[in-house]
Amino acid sequence: MLNSSKPFEKLVIASHNKGKLKEIAALVTPFGIDVISAGDLGVAEPEETEDSFIGNALLKARASCQATGLPALADDSGLEVMALDRAPGIYSARWAGPERDFYAAMGEIERQMQAKGATDRTARFVCALALVYPDGREAVFEGEVRGQIVAEPRGSHGFGYDPIFVADGQSLTFGELDPAIKHAMSHRADAFAKFVSAILS
Ligand code: IMP
Repeated sequence: MLNSSKPFEKLVIASHNKGKLKEIAALVTPFGIDVISAGDLGVAEPEETEDSFIGNALLKARASCQATGLPALADDSGLEVMALDRAPGIYSARWAGPERDFYAAMGEIERQMQAKGATDRTARFVCALALVYPDGREAVFEGEVRGQIVAEPRGSHGFGYDPIFVADGQSLTFGELDPAIKHAMSHRADAFAKFVSAILS
């Protein structure tokens, strides 16, 4: 499915995460686009100082685009728990602390929900994507998957908050589901489908 009207030859992925780079490369290389990681080009990761997923994705994409002179794509994602006024939200990674202890972060979600006497267990994973071109054009896309928070973490697949999230229509957590099933319905899949349809198709 090589696209003759591809919008660029090279795309910088504004992430130092090898897993993300691989996932994004698999998605855009069928369109004849080469991906390079911002880390490999020596671009420093900016501090995420904005107050929204879109804001932080834009900040990262702008930094990579400015440093390299190439179109840059960045993502920012996290979990919003409605009863906690959408926390941990943009702080999802930071709630796990420097040790990246997501069991502590999941425990904290349950502790705060119980402290509030929350009966609403609805939540969503969100993924924002930002594409910034050297001529200043910008495009943003947001994907989501809605579901419920379970009290006890279940399953060992995935990462982050997967063991406490059950997507609508499922009975297993993202930690228990076959990873291919999760990937097909995830907030990232949703955001990337919007990116591909608007930019690459
Ligand atoms: P980012 O890499 O700055 O976008 O951080 C996203 C954080 O949100 C991760 O560290 C996880 O805590 C959480 N998160 C994002 N996507 C997922 C997912 O698919 N499953 C579980 N946790 C996720």
